[in-house]
Amino acid sequence: MSNINQCDRFRIVLYSIAMTQAAFQIQSTIIVLLMVIGIMLRSDKSKHVPMMSLVIAWDILLVLQIELTRSAIAKASQVTTNPMILNIHVTLATTTIVFYLFMIYYGRKLLKGDLSIKTIHRRMGLATFVLRMATYITSYFVVIR
Ligand code: HEM
Repeated sequence: MSNINQCDRFRIVLYSIAMTQAAFQIQSTIIVLLMVIGIMLRSDKSKHVPMMSLVIAWDILLVLQIELTRSAIAKASQVTTNPMILNIHVTLATTTIVFYLFMIYYGRKLLKGDLSIKTIHRRMGLATFVLRMATYITSYFVVIR
């Protein structure tokens, strides 16, 4: 242990932060790609529903992972991020999660045969996709480098 000096320790911390954030960005990219595939499969409910359920569940898990490590990363790195972009990003991410809940609600109604809800599900689906893309793009501007 005594062989590791303060400078090495700092390097290890920075490396761990970079790895953690890379893991978040990789997951986020996969989620966005799966969402695109799920939307392309929208007319086949046997594929669309499981794909969208996976996207929503994984995205909520990703937000939890980020939240649980956020204070540790902020404390260890002490790097100031752009607060305006961060606020915009967090608002977009939170709104996306709220929209997911509506998508589950309307999606379940559609599954039960209520076709009157199809237009709302489609329009909200487009809005949810735009929100998720905006969350994805802004995430690159808040990441600590
Ligand atoms: C962010 C998540 C979601 C998006 C972006 C999305 C998007 C869409 C879109 C664009 C359509 C086509 C609507 C049309 O052709 O008028 C559709 C259809 C459908 N969605 Fe979703 N959806 C999502 C989540 C869900 C979930 C969670 C469920 C079920 C619980 C669901 C169930 C359905 C069903 C049953 C259909 C009709 C399929 C058919 O035509 O047979 N969706 N969705």
